[in-house]
Amino acid sequence: MSEVQVSEAEIAVHWREEEYYAPSPKFIGQANANDPAIFERFAEKNFPECFKEYADLLTWDKYWHTTLDTSNPPFWKWFVGGRLNASYNCVDRHLAKYRNKAALIWVPEPEDQVTQAITYQELYRRVNEFAAVLRDFCGLKAGDRVTLHMPMVPDLPVTMLACARLGVIHSEVFGGFSGAACGDRIADSGSRVLITTDAYYRNGDLLDHKSKAEEALVAAKKEGQDVDKILVWRRHAGQNSSKAEWVKGRDFWVDELLAEHKGKIVEPVSMPAEAPLFLMYTSGTTARPKGCQHSTGGYLSYVAGTSKYYQDIHPEDTYWCFADIGWITGHSYIVYGPLALAATSVMYEGVPTYPDPGRPWRIAERLGVNIFHTAPTTIRMLRKLGPDEPTKYDYHFKHMTTVGEPIEPDVWRWYHSVVGKGEAVIVDTWWQTENGGFLGSTLPALQNMKPGSCGPGVLGIFPQILDEKGNPVPPGSGKAGNICIRNPWPGIFQTVYGQPDRFVDIYYKKYNRDKKSKDWRDWPYFAGDGALQAEDGYFRIIGRVDDVINVAGHRLGTKELESATITVEEVAEAAAVPVMDDLRGRAVEIYVALKPGYKPTKQIEDKVSAAIENLIGKIARPKNVWIVPDMPKTRSGKIMRRVIAGISNFTGTGDITTLANPEVVETIQHQVQAQKVERGQVPRELSEQELAEIKAFGHAE
Ligand code: WTA
Repeated sequence: MSEVQVSEAEIAVHWREEEYYAPSPKFIGQANANDPAIFERFAEKNFPECFKEYADLLTWDKYWHTTLDTSNPPFWKWFVGGRLNASYNCVDRHLAKYRNKAALIWVPEPEDQVTQAITYQELYRRVNEFAAVLRDFCGLKAGDRVTLHMPMVPDLPVTMLACARLGVIHSEVFGGFSGAACGDRIADSGSRVLITTDAYYRNGDLLDHKSKAEEALVAAKKEGQDVDKILVWRRHAGQNSSKAEWVKGRDFWVDELLAEHKGKIVEPVSMPAEAPLFLMYTSGTTARPKGCQHSTGGYLSYVAGTSKYYQDIHPEDTYWCFADIGWITGHSYIVYGPLALAATSVMYEGVPTYPDPGRPWRIAERLGVNIFHTAPTTIRMLRKLGPDEPTKYDYHFKHMTTVGEPIEPDVWRWYHSVVGKGEAVIVDTWWQTENGGFLGSTLPALQNMKPGSCGPGVLGIFPQILDEKGNPVPPGSGKAGNICIRNPWPGIFQTVYGQPDRFVDIYYKKYNRDKKSKDWRDWPYFAGDGALQAEDGYFRIIGRVDDVINVAGHRLGTKELESATITVEEVAEAAAVPVMDDLRGRAVEIYVALKPGYKPTKQIEDKVSAAIENLIGKIARPKNVWIVPDMPKTRSGKIMRRVIAGISNFTGTGDITTLANPEVVETIQHQVQAQKVERGQVPRELSEQELAEIKAFGHAE
């Protein structure tokens, strides 16, 4: 009974304290940040001027006059008056010293295809020539938006940097997303140009990607947005690897256009610090994705600073962030952060376990990778399929990162002892698409690691756990609450593109103390994650408190999943819930109720899965689709997702006495759990932390 009356913010979680791990003296000796004086420089009394240290890592055309402008809260402006160009900072300025050093090393998925090293000089050429195409052929100029739907090929960072050179705002849509999802983002951003690739390799297959452009255009058109040009990069020189129809006058091969602009040099456009650099769409509580708008000066400063201190990148390192550039991690920590520091950044086209789970370690050995960055879902998969593989390869990491989901301490320990060979430090970095860069992490040479905790707030970030009423939950109280950031920082997104009210409502309204206040202290940032803070100040992230399901590190909104589901003719109502999954962290289960006159069939279940795959993408495919007689509802007619989440995870349904139809719960529970037993899907016993997450799910309802 009591469990529903206690709000998620007050759930007590009794987790075991983990032991600390210390960085090695060898790591400390060479680290970018190894003098504790840095904590003093970034202390709250030095805010916001402390971030000058990050901005000074960049080359400015014009220095700023105001570090932080709070005149229009919560639309903070950083480094006002300053001007710079992101492409210049990531490419041109490195030529004098690093012309012939690899900027990017690209590893194709098929092992018999040659790895490509692209030097800073070569990157400079490619970026300039493609910028000339965008400017002179497409007529694009500063402030225009362009949608990219590209996989992990080097043409993607080239495209991003070419846009940045012109001040054109790029909006890259994850390559694995469907054409329809891409089309929605084209429409929302108002892009006239779509940049894509004919095909790419994934798990041994050459996937036709250009065909998705056709679907994207149809979806965009439905929302009133026309696209007049599609620029297509080629995966194999001289070949067309796509079967999609080619529309003359609309579709153009990039290599043919480049040939016409060979050797052209495009002067980088000097942009105001607050000019938008890119949009990155992410999921939230409603079906419409949010275009997170990131700035040029603040964002680039923040990713350069955190790459330097938290990723410990030096120009002589070989750094491999095993993420997809289609997500924020790839933008910040494959492209902009590392390249701003003149790093060598490795990109891999394919899946971690292709053709076998030794692949990542072969790449690391071959290229001499010494900094490795990935997500818990990849770590779990590699551990399951090749627990001893890392020991067979002669590579040595000094530093490793995990990001995107909570990592179980047990998985952390395997990462540390087997992947890291006990030599590497680990930073568990907590942050979000909206944030630009890390918010919670240990500073690797100066703070001990603790498995399962991301650590304290990073330099210049002051997080706090608040309860539902806005009162601070003290560290060490064993209680979870909503993690907030008390102060603005340069990497924070500027707005939700085209929806400023939503920006304020979602992230600031909950804890704002005074709407009229121009003092940042009255505007804590609400992250939408539940978390606990231990006595030592380290945070442990529990998971989302809004209607977002984190599948293998990818954020999926329950509303998006449900909207896709109800496009199936037979479906009357749908509800999406997370279910614990040993590899992906969480998987999606969909509950549907049918319209009168329809009977449950396997075909309807398959139609639901197909609809989700077509409208969102393969990553969203549900683990199970349950057709139930009715949904558990409140008296006001709201579907109680937490009740079905409890059923799916075998964690009990909680108090159901306030439901309009409590009797249906038992029927559903019997039906679903019996089938799960049959399918061998009974979950292991859940940890306190996982139980807290399930209890909190649907709390936004
Ligand atoms: C979750 C990814 C625990 C969290 C950079 C957040 C994490 C959401 C961690 C953002 C971590 C991210 N430990 N949980 N180290 N990092 N999350 O926008 O719930 O794709 O709100 O950004 O992932 O996901 P997003």
